[in-house]
Amino acid sequence: MKILVINGPNLNLLGIREPELYGRRDYHALEEYCKAVCRELSARFHCEIVCDVYQSNHEGELVEQIQQAYFDHTDGIVINPAAYTHTSVAILDALKAVSIPAAEVHLTDVGEREEFRRVSYAGMACERHYAGYGFEGYRMALEYLVQNYGKNGR
Ligand code: DQA
Repeated sequence: MKILVINGPNLNLLGIREPELYGRRDYHALEEYCKAVCRELSARFHCEIVCDVYQSNHEGELVEQIQQAYFDHTDGIVINPAAYTHTSVAILDALKAVSIPAAEVHLTDVGEREEFRRVSYAGMACERHYAGYGFEGYRMALEYLVQNYGKNGR
């Protein structure tokens, strides 16, 4: 099974940016965390999970990664579009276009922050939403995609 984890703008500054909100661990730690979770899930579900973790500060590059996932036969997408969550119809359309099962993650509880963070365009194309669990939200999203792999004829 092939999974792509996509992270949007400013997540490369984890550890530096507003640590009281986003924590003290850096982006490299998040990459390692996702890969470690995938190794654990591979062992637990007796399958090989290949996990790529990607980050960009550019909306178009995020769209291109989502499109590429289709051509790479990716089976699941975990996405934290960061600020583009609340603005990007292009990311929503890309997720709908490729129709790959996707789960949305936010480190913080976007529903409990400013009003403008309550709208999630990307979330409209995602099967599950995990917000406010820090890194753990990525684990929840990965687990959901692995557990549901092959269901509903996909
Ligand atoms: C975020 C929440 C977004 O509102 C914000 O713009 C981010 C990070 C999160 O992970 O909590 O950059 O997606």
